[in-house]
Amino acid sequence: MTTVKKNDRARRRPVVVPMRPLSPQSPQSEGLPLPDRLIITIDGPAGTGKSTVARALAHRLGLDFLDTGAMYRAAAAIAIDAALDIHDHDQLVNEIERRDLHFDFDADPPTLLCCGESIMHRLRDDDVTRLVSPIAAIDRLRQEMVRKQRQIGVQHPRLVTEGRDQGSVVFPDADVKFFLYASPRVRAQRRAKDEHAKGLPVDLDALEQAISDRDHRDSTRTVAPLTCPADAERIDTSNMSFDQVVDALEAHVTRVLGSRKAPRPAHRARNPALGSAGGTGSA
Ligand code: DC
Repeated sequence: MTTVKKNDRARRRPVVVPMRPLSPQSPQSEGLPLPDRLIITIDGPAGTGKSTVARALAHRLGLDFLDTGAMYRAAAAIAIDAALDIHDHDQLVNEIERRDLHFDFDADPPTLLCCGESIMHRLRDDDVTRLVSPIAAIDRLRQEMVRKQRQIGVQHPRLVTEGRDQGSVVFPDADVKFFLYASPRVRAQRRAKDEHAKGLPVDLDALEQAISDRDHRDSTRTVAPLTCPADAERIDTSNMSFDQVVDALEAHVTRVLGSRKAPRPAHRARNPALGSAGGTGSA
């Protein structure tokens, strides 16, 4: 991932980060008045291109971008580099807290800092990728990450955030939710292309099986399993190009924001299930 520094402040802790000026870059959303708070969540399994799509959508709409997978990857890198016992959850979480993980949102993509230093160079290393799945299944660690992510949502209320649990757990009241999906075969083909480009041998069937197994593990784990929130727009990217996916997401956001301008009905709709007007309002 290429990090473009916007200024030389990366090594200092950005306590209050100024909001990026809104600069819609595509005709679809151009002129669309964006509200002060606009949280867009993008969840889905690995290999659906969520991260690049989320970043592109954030660019088009002039929003900030949060890669929550990077936070779990950083936790895995810290555990490896400090030789921590990942079964000692208290020690692990204390050490992660001590490292003061936070993003510098002045960089594009935002730089994840650990004790004030970028940890980006470690995030995609093989040892980190191998350990991140069990690390991300640790309940106490997730609680800490969720807390940090919600805090980021307060400091950056115009945000596209991407992960596995953003719409279901972290921001259940997000303004727009997406769930990206692609068949295991297509995701295996995408991964095979990457491996092939690196000159590595590729077994497509084995890749597909590994992806299906991981989907099963992720969606059946007890802690924050991967689920499609009921109110999310589900998009199957199997037969879509990158641009088509970003276009579809942007069009949906535009529709949702456009529909908000419609006049609200004066009275609450009758609830057919109750047979009387409205309801108690409690869930
Ligand atoms: O999206 P990614 O490959 O960078 O994610 C790294 C790992 O973190 C992966 O095992 C899924 C997990 N993850 C998670 O459990 N919850 C998130 N919100 C983001 C990532």
